[in-house]
Amino acid sequence: MTPADLFSHQEQDQPVTLGPGAVVLRAHALPFIDELLPAISAIEACSPFRNMVTPGGYTMSVALTNCGELGWWSDRRGYRYTRIDPITEKSWPDMPPSFLRLAQTAASKAGYPDFMPDACLVNRYLPGSRLSLHQDRNERDFSAPIVSVSLGMSATFLFGGLERSDRAARLELHHGDVVVWGGPDRLRYHGIMPLKGPAHGLLGEQRINFTFRKAG
Ligand code: SIN
Ligand code: FE2
Repeated sequence: MTPADLFSHQEQDQPVTLGPGAVVLRAHALPFIDELLPAISAIEACSPFRNMVTPGGYTMSVALTNCGELGWWSDRRGYRYTRIDPITEKSWPDMPPSFLRLAQTAASKAGYPDFMPDACLVNRYLPGSRLSLHQDRNERDFSAPIVSVSLGMSATFLFGGLERSDRAARLELHHGDVVVWGGPDRLRYHGIMPLKGPAHGLLGEQRINFTFRKAG
C-alpha cells in the first residue's frame, strides 16, 4: 500500500466532523445496498416520485416520495407532514426494516443512540436538480437528529450555519455516505448544488437521498 492509498483508506473510514453534533460517516450505507435498492422500487411502486410545489409557487427540481408513518408534503398552502399520500389517498408505504437499521446504526455511530424515525423522505435528483439552502424545521421537536443517506451520483453538499447568511462549507458526498446532524447543529442550513458529473455505475444518471426524521 502506498502512502496515498493509506490516506484515501483512512479518509474513507474516519468520520468527518462538521460540528459538535454533526458528522459524515463515509460509506456507512454500503453494507445495506442490496436491501435498499429493491426497497426503493417497492416504495416508488406505491407512492411514486413527484415534483412538489413550494408555498411560493415554484416547482421543486428534486422529485420526492416518502415512507414511514409520516410523509413530508409541500404545496401552495405550506410545508407539513401528512399520514396519507395526497396523490394515492393511501398511507405512505411502511418504512422498510433495512431503512430503519441503516438510520439507527448511523445515528448511534454519530452519538444519537435512541433514534426512532417516523418519517423518511426519499429525494431523487437528476442532472441539474438542486436543493437550495434551507433548515429542516417542520418536525415537532428538534431533539432528534436528521440522518441523510446518499446513493448514486456524487453531489456537492452545502452545510451552513444557523443563519441563512452564514458561509456554507462545501463537501462532496458519494454513494453510501451518511450525514448526521443533531443537537446544537440540528437547525443548520444545508442544501445541494446542481447535480452534475459522471453517471453512477449502479444507479445511472441520478442521485437518491433519504432523510430520516422524527417528525411527530
Ligand atoms: C434534504 O435536505 O432534504 C436533502 C439533502 C440531500 O439531498 O443530501
Ligand atoms: Fe433538508
